[in-house]
Amino acid sequence: MSLQVTSSVLYLDDVSVSFDGFKAINNLSLVLEPGEMRAIIGPNGAGKTTMMDIITGKTKPDSGDVYFNGNVDVTRYDESAIATMGIGRKFQKPTVFENHTVEDNLLLAMSGMQTIKSMLFGGRTHDEQERIDEVLTTTRLNTRRNDLAANLSHGQKQWLEIGMLLAQDPKLLLVDEPVAGMTDSETEETARLLREIAEDHAVVVVEHDMDFIRDLDVKVTCLHEGSVLAEGSLDSVSSDQRVIDVYLGR
Ligand SMILES: Nc1ncnc2c1ncn2[C@@H]1O[C@H](COP(=O)(O)OP(=O)(O)O)[C@@H](O)[C@H]1O
Ligand SMILES: [Mg+2]
Repeated sequence: MSLQVTSSVLYLDDVSVSFDGFKAINNLSLVLEPGEMRAIIGPNGAGKTTMMDIITGKTKPDSGDVYFNGNVDVTRYDESAIATMGIGRKFQKPTVFENHTVEDNLLLAMSGMQTIKSMLFGGRTHDEQERIDEVLTTTRLNTRRNDLAANLSHGQKQWLEIGMLLAQDPKLLLVDEPVAGMTDSETEETARLLREIAEDHAVVVVEHDMDFIRDLDVKVTCLHEGSVLAEGSLDSVSSDQRVIDVYLGR
């Protein structure tokens, strides 16, 4: 095993997966260092979501290596085991519990093995309360803690869902198109929020909003036809003629 495998939070090498003969992921290699935030761009159908499916165990690759946290071979575990090991994923559409308060949503996310009832009605420990307060602050939801999730704005629901991931204390967060449908000010706030989260988590963010990507100010990977087309600073990737041809210029 190479040094890179053992020191990386995420290591994909030569990964391929086909659906009915169509190669959605094609010899994909990507390495994320501990604490790194990476932005993933690329046209629709490039394989961005499928890559997240592979990292979270939803889809098994046909070939290639996928390691998490150094030497954990992700391909040997199922989705729930991988989530428990510390990979949290936020899907495109928020899936918060609308009829519960913001705070209870966080508590539910944190509950793990305990039953929902005992979490909601049985009180909480000092540590749990501290963690909830911390997450409420990070996600800008402190003043909304007692409101029903149903009454949040779309952007705030997205933040709550990110908070629900944070409540589970993952090492790596995967965030798929977080600012789709957000207002400009919510989008700008989301970039700040993710930068704060990235201070002590590894993060992979898929987005199409290039202003948002610029605000993230991190290394960018452009996927195309299931592999890496270009990688580097946003300026170098966005001035790459191949990236312009398949994505930015369209
Ligand atoms: N479960 C699946 N079954 C069949 N085809 C799929 C499946 N998941 C993804 N694909 C196909 O793989 C390609 C990549 O999709 P996706 O990863 O969703 O791209 P992106 O997120 O970059 O838009 C698309 O052509 C899509 O139709
Ligand atoms: Mg997608």
